[in-house]
Amino acid sequence: MVSGAPYWVYQDEATYRLEQKMIFEGPVWNYLCLEADVTKPGDYRTTFVGEMPVIVVRGEDGEIYAFENRCAHRGALIALDDGGRNAKDFQCVYHAWTYDLKGNLKGVAFEEGSNGQGGMPRDFRKEQHGPGKLYTATLCGLVFASLSDNVPPIEDYLGEAILARIERVLCKPIRVIGRYTQALPNNWKLYEENVKDTYHASLLHLFFGTFRLPPLTQGGGGGQLGGVGCGPAAAAKGRSAAEARRASCRPGSPARWPFARGGTGRPYWAGTGGSAGAAGCAGAAGRR
Ligand code: FES
Repeated sequence: MVSGAPYWVYQDEATYRLEQKMIFEGPVWNYLCLEADVTKPGDYRTTFVGEMPVIVVRGEDGEIYAFENRCAHRGALIALDDGGRNAKDFQCVYHAWTYDLKGNLKGVAFEEGSNGQGGMPRDFRKEQHGPGKLYTATLCGLVFASLSDNVPPIEDYLGEAILARIERVLCKPIRVIGRYTQALPNNWKLYEENVKDTYHASLLHLFFGTFRLPPLTQGGGGGQLGGVGCGPAAAAKGRSAAEARRASCRPGSPARWPFARGGTGRPYWAGTGGSAGAAGCAGAAGRR
């Protein structure tokens, strides 16, 4: 197939709006940050879910919370920076409304007025106002969030094949040594497709050729379409996919997974033995 998507879908405003609603705001888990970004209470990062600016923060109870980075008053950004440490609360710079680490509105400037004048209406309730909150889940040190209460558990959402790949790569504690942000002035689908476009990678990126990662030259290391030696082969021996994954992720355990794509029947042999198991990657999904 040369192309099955008309180019207008990358520029059509109605399509874009529908994508925001059905994908980013739908029953989808969106990646937010690493748990290592928010290790202690008050540590936070700012990011986006689709167009929605989001604060992700470690609460005082140790749980991770995520809420819209928009003040309930006039919609100003609550947190202006990329992230921070040891925050006790968040205060909007515009009119100083204050939110706790769970995104609850805790303080309203001049709520009682001044000198007996003004103030909020008597029936104003802070708990009825606040930024939108997101459901959160963690898996192998990754933090995800969803705006939908219909989203399945993160493990079911990702599925065995993707879980296996994540556990294979993220099987050791993560230490953040830097951060790099790149703004791409294009439709979001182009980046998504580029990541899946392995055709260009072997031609354009020196890394792939150097380490012989393209299928035609692959001699070891990791698979272009994966890197997980679990699944069908082991399952055929009577083990569950989860057992197969654990077995294949033992240190030095060679495993291969013939991975046919697109109905071509052509096998892509994935990589061999991992350097560590999947301990600590059980995934603790937490919701609010
Ligand atoms: S916009 Fe945030 S306090 Fe007014």
